[in-house]
Amino acid sequence: MKVEHIGIAVNKLEQAEPLYQTLLNSSAYKREEVESEGVITSFFRAGATKIELLEATRPDSPIARFIERRGEGLHHIAFEVEDIQAEMARLRAAGFRLLNEQPKRGADNKWVCFVHPKDCQGVLVELCQEIRE
Ligand code: CO
Repeated sequence: MKVEHIGIAVNKLEQAEPLYQTLLNSSAYKREEVESEGVITSFFRAGATKIELLEATRPDSPIARFIERRGEGLHHIAFEVEDIQAEMARLRAAGFRLLNEQPKRGADNKWVCFVHPKDCQGVLVELCQEIRE
């Protein structure tokens, strides 16, 4: 389906938010902490898709480790799927390594699963599905 959002790792939301606000000519519409991942996220609308800025909340957060290795910048591309379990099964059968066995609760009311960047030409791919309950 569509690119639901693009995740960008940043050192400080305080610094990155105003910059993206000017770039996109719109304000962040929500900030949300995902405790389990050690991140605070900030969301912007960009036409049909969204930009998700990610700041680490602790040194062992995947975002902190990413920035340590590669610096700030493009972190992941998230594709919206209709049935995340089915897509995970399909990709697993096709030989892709998934970073989580079960969908987990991500930001913005989504079930998420990450696909190993080594299986996607160096790009971390997120599958996400709206949580309906
Ligand atoms: Co994301």
